[in-house]
Amino acid sequence: MVSPTISQPVEGGLTRAAIFITLTLNNDDAALQTFRDFCADLPSLIRAVGFRSAEAELTCILGIGADLWGRLALGARPQGLHVFEEIAGVHLAPSTPGDILLHIRATRPDYCFEMATQIMRRLGPVATVEDETQGFKFFDNRDLLGFVDGTENPNGVERTAAVLIGPEDAAFAGGSYVIVQKYMHDLDKWQAMTTESQERVIGRHKLSDIEFPDAEKASFAHNVLTSINDDQGNQLQILRDNMPFGSPAKGEFGTYFIGYACEPGRIETMLRNMFVGLPQGNYDRILDVSTPVTGGLFFIPTANILDVIGAGGTLEAQPSPPQPTRQADASLGIGSLKQGD
Ligand code: HEM
Repeated sequence: MVSPTISQPVEGGLTRAAIFITLTLNNDDAALQTFRDFCADLPSLIRAVGFRSAEAELTCILGIGADLWGRLALGARPQGLHVFEEIAGVHLAPSTPGDILLHIRATRPDYCFEMATQIMRRLGPVATVEDETQGFKFFDNRDLLGFVDGTENPNGVERTAAVLIGPEDAAFAGGSYVIVQKYMHDLDKWQAMTTESQERVIGRHKLSDIEFPDAEKASFAHNVLTSINDDQGNQLQILRDNMPFGSPAKGEFGTYFIGYACEPGRIETMLRNMFVGLPQGNYDRILDVSTPVTGGLFFIPTANILDVIGAGGTLEAQPSPPQPTRQADASLGIGSLKQGD
């Protein structure tokens, strides 16, 4: 019997806590084998940490970068997978190293912390840590610029269509792509602006979170530059799960941007609009007070493909006939792959 396709839980909503870890895997066979073993064991690790409290809603998503994908020699490649390309516009979006992205979410920070600890026990000895960011929910889902962040995320079937790969890349249907950037804010500069100027930058009212009417939005407003359409005029949506992070004692305040999509091109178009401007030079003023210090693009395989990686197999037998997709168990992350056997 063919197993149903099981997506990693990319469609999950904003949580109180999240940890983002980016790693570069050592360039040797032993490290690759450790990673394969980790892929095989990830569902049981998530169950072991998460089962203690269903209310904690622990999930952990594993993303794989282009170079590591090549090393895994699976015999097939997701169409949109490539190394994140730097964008040098009015401001710079750097591309920084990373083979593995872990996006750990829960309603409680202790569950994220324990999950991260268990992951690093396994991968720490064979990888370089490029970044670890511990994010938290700030009041009513506000970023540290003081605006509610995430309001216009798609929901329901629109969310699924925005984030999960469909039949256009059948071997990878049910997978997803993610782009991450860690932004540092210059809060003194931002707070020196009037609330009215800040609202023009974002395109929404700060306190109420109400969007400006289109006719009143500045051409450089964040929600103008990031609203994009296909050739038929349909909006191309992404799912953002941004989290604030920082260290007040060190004067560090930031936003960890994380955007999921069924193909990375739409996120890259939004980034070009923000950094280069649309038209060129009409850039996003968020960037005058927000500097990205990382930039990475990762493929999010289905749990089925993680299982193949864990077993040291290949995908050459793909594509299999289209199967119904379902989301991995919300509380435990990736469900047991044995269920469908
Ligand atoms: C410093 C980094 C960023 C901050 C603080 C930020 C903040 C915000 C805020 C406050 C909103 C309005 C509320 C909402 O709909 O969520 C918003 C909307 C949005 N942002 Fe960002 N954002 C950042 C980076 C990015 C990046 C890098 C992208 C894409 C590449 C992006 C894509 C979007 C999109 C698609 C929307 C919804 C636009 C709409 O349809 O109205 N954001 N962001």
